[in-house]
Amino acid sequence: MQREQWNSRIGFILAAVGSAIGLGNIWRFPYMAYENGGGAFFIPYLFAMISAGIPFMIMEFSLGHKLRGAAPKVFSRLGIHYGLRLEWLGWFQVLIAAVIAVYYVAIIGWTISFLGFSFTQSWGTDTNAFFFNEYLQLGDNSPTSLGVFQPHIALPMAIAWAITSLAIFTGVRGGIERASKIMMPLLFIMVLVLIGRIVFLPGALEGLNYLFQPDFSKILDTKVWSAAYGQIFFTLSVGFAIMLAYSSYLPEKSDINNNAFMTVLINCGFSIMGGIMIFGVLGYMAQEQAKPLTEVVTSGVGLAFVTIPAAINLLPAPYILGPLFFFALVVAGLSSHISILEAVTSAIMDKLHLPRKKAAAIVCGTGFIISMAFATNGGLLLLDLIDYFINNIALLFSCFIELIILTWLFKIADVRDYTNRLSEFTIGIWFELCLRFISPAMLGIILVRNLVNTVNNGYGDYPIADQLLLGWGLIAIMLFISILINFASNHKEEL
Ligand code: PHE
Ligand code: NA
Repeated sequence: MQREQWNSRIGFILAAVGSAIGLGNIWRFPYMAYENGGGAFFIPYLFAMISAGIPFMIMEFSLGHKLRGAAPKVFSRLGIHYGLRLEWLGWFQVLIAAVIAVYYVAIIGWTISFLGFSFTQSWGTDTNAFFFNEYLQLGDNSPTSLGVFQPHIALPMAIAWAITSLAIFTGVRGGIERASKIMMPLLFIMVLVLIGRIVFLPGALEGLNYLFQPDFSKILDTKVWSAAYGQIFFTLSVGFAIMLAYSSYLPEKSDINNNAFMTVLINCGFSIMGGIMIFGVLGYMAQEQAKPLTEVVTSGVGLAFVTIPAAINLLPAPYILGPLFFFALVVAGLSSHISILEAVTSAIMDKLHLPRKKAAAIVCGTGFIISMAFATNGGLLLLDLIDYFINNIALLFSCFIELIILTWLFKIADVRDYTNRLSEFTIGIWFELCLRFISPAMLGIILVRNLVNTVNNGYGDYPIADQLLLGWGLIAIMLFISILINFASNHKEEL
């Protein structure tokens, strides 16, 4: 069977950007920046972008382009070349994507609900009670005792699934590429309109000041660096099978360096736009309520679903700006969800030699059912716990192993030669230096730090048994399954 291909270069870039730009840019980036001292975050963030983000993106685009497969096939082929069996790493990444797929869709579901509420601000004035009690119906549940099924959360999640699985069923050109070509320009326009209005609100500039004023005293704080590196891998969707799958559909003649730079720069530029939007609104809110900025901000999920609705209540024409904001979140989330599903679907297609529609039915059907666990009283807790372990342990572990294998076991210089031959502008030796030394050192430090921290203190106040099961246990099971598939495979057949 002929492998599918992107129709145009811009189509590929928009799809890659659609994956990269997600809820993380509008919502995670601003609160990461906030929690890490505002402007202090920029220097580590930009450093991580250049030393890890760009070279990693070039590396993944090259691997997908050359080895023409989803993650398991890419690593399997790479390994055979050097006499190693590496398919497991691909499956581990696919499993990370699969886990993210089922909880990310829950957040998209919430944003769809809030898009509905935003037309009349039916969240009322106590937005905290509204989100946690009325909407999520959070009781005294734990991540494992889920409580009761909540149809009002399941319905918007089903809508999200319908849209994203349609794109997957329809395929690379007709589905993913077409959806990206509609969604991405729309998203940019919406966010530009929002920013255009927000920066003229009284107090907005004070908010931006907070975001952009560098605090050099934080520059030696390892926590800030760790947050910056973690955010770069998450925000660029690298290290968990997505960009490998997308670049495996690139045509023979593709300018990889250029594509990678564009994708990274557009994504990180968009994060800054997200930051401007959020901090502009927060600055306005602080001014309206005559409070210091630090008192109006909440972090985590509270920012998008508690603080922003409260801020929207205070805006002029809230029935326009509110829906614009939540619609932007919905679109950003959907395009990322499409890419996650494609990472999993393409792996199944490769492995079982299934046609797209069959593979998509398996992936989306199973995913839909599992995701319903999040439409319960305990859904948020379940999501929060799994998200922590996936992002802070599994994802960084996967990126770290990928880097070590590629740069210390294999010759990363080959990748540079390969991409430079294809690309109009060439990249220099910094590419190898960043990937061989700086990134692994940084990732290694962060990973060890997170491991030690989590072993010693756990995460949040969740019961130990839940953390063992859904955190460590889940990761162990993912590794076990990956290794099992690895050994059950006949690798000769892969060639
Ligand atoms: N890059 C996405 C973001 O910033 C992260 C992501 C991508 C998450 C794809 C899930 C799926 O939000
Ligand atoms: Na992103």
